[in-house]
Amino acid sequence: MEGMLKKLQTLSESDFYPYHMPGHKRCGNPYFALDITEIDGFDNLHHATGMIKKAQERAAKLYGTLDSYFLVNGSTCGILTAMFASFQKGDKVLVARNCHKSVYHALEIRGLRPIYIYPETDEEYDISVGITAKQVVEAIEQHNEYRKEKGLSIGVCNYYDSIKGMVLTSPTYEGITSDIKEIAEVLHKRDIILIVDEAHGAHFGFHEAFPESAIKQGADLVIQSLHKTLPSMTQTALLHRCSERVSVDRIQKYLAVFQTSSPSYIFMAHMDECVKMLEKKGPKLFQGFADKLDDFYKSCEGLKHIKIRRTSDPGKILIKAEVCSGRELYDILRTRFHLQMEMCAGNYVLGIMTICDSEEGYKRLQDALFCLDDEFAGMSLDKNEDDKRKTLVSLLNERPDQYFRAYEAETREFERITLSKAAGRMSGEYLYLYPPGIPFIVPGEIFTKELVKGLKSLQKMGYELQGTTDLSGKTVKVVI
Ligand SMILES: Cc1ncc(COP(=O)(O)O)c(C=O)c1O
Repeated sequence: MEGMLKKLQTLSESDFYPYHMPGHKRCGNPYFALDITEIDGFDNLHHATGMIKKAQERAAKLYGTLDSYFLVNGSTCGILTAMFASFQKGDKVLVARNCHKSVYHALEIRGLRPIYIYPETDEEYDISVGITAKQVVEAIEQHNEYRKEKGLSIGVCNYYDSIKGMVLTSPTYEGITSDIKEIAEVLHKRDIILIVDEAHGAHFGFHEAFPESAIKQGADLVIQSLHKTLPSMTQTALLHRCSERVSVDRIQKYLAVFQTSSPSYIFMAHMDECVKMLEKKGPKLFQGFADKLDDFYKSCEGLKHIKIRRTSDPGKILIKAEVCSGRELYDILRTRFHLQMEMCAGNYVLGIMTICDSEEGYKRLQDALFCLDDEFAGMSLDKNEDDKRKTLVSLLNERPDQYFRAYEAETREFERITLSKAAGRMSGEYLYLYPPGIPFIVPGEIFTKELVKGLKSLQKMGYELQGTTDLSGKTVKVVI
């Protein structure tokens, strides 16, 4: 079956001369050879009727969706599209507070009114666990009570007051999934749309060792980054429409808004290759992957001073050392063993494994962990030090009071003050660590003393606060 990549290769070997963009004219650098624009026979992402349409249909068939759309600007543009297509300005939306910043950006620029649901915490690792259907029901009931108090009848109210949708992240960066099936049932009974940011779960549903995708569990729209956990190029992702609750027209309208009008054919061809590979060899590749992971986790059972946590997604390896912080362990693995991990937080390091990891990849990590395990014997960590390291989730759960919504704060005047003086002031910007890109505070919310203290201590531990316009992180923008 000829795919997009083959067509690009055939063109690059042909005698067609390019009197068109891109300016490199496909020569001078091997990377340019396959890089074209919308020329005859190559279809158009924003008006797909030919090979791009076929490739997207192939993706839809593989994932079992109504339609699937190629994204060339990551899950970020899929999340923006999904939220703009599903909601109108002013709509109330349930939002898991541990969402990625792209969800917050969509809330702000679409002018939505979020009702946050805070996930519970796994105390041992200091990570957020999944959102439960019970939490969703409670949030809806609490909102209905509030509406009753305000004298609004339930069921016959204007759309500004009822909850229109929910957005949540599943799996989390650390591989923890939420109760999607039950949440979808709860929401759909009340005619509420469910959008799942499954950016870290494009590999779900291909083998029983991995969770079922939200696509199969009743979500209406699902966004997946192919580039995060599958062999595809950075920036490539998919937006899946899984029910009729959101129309194709609205999705296409906003894809045209949020995606470039010059999408990379190299990106699209590699998404197609990834889909074709899964179609052809998916079960075998995932069986091999599951076996390697099983062996890795089994062998790590012999570690005494380092803990390895297997989450809902076994491809996400959480490593915690009893005697040092996540940052210290991350630095040791990088500088001494040349193992570049995905991220670290208060007390853990996160590694991502995929179907593309070699035996060597597993072995090098395993050898490094056993070597450190021996060195850690006899060392201990002060209890106070350990508590200090439990910073990330407790700070993410600070629940700062919201005075303005982000889109309202945006219209105010700002001043810049040092972070140490921010307690009691209203933030004019988002503050987060990247990764994972989950905001500690959103414009319009008030800094608490604990938040300021926690952010400063994160900086002292070597973490870089992002989202601030002052890249040094010393000052923050606050509303006057
Ligand atoms: C949970 C989550 N959602 C969305 C995104 C955005 O994905 P992308 O980088 O593909 O735009 C990220 C990126 O890290 C993420 O972690």
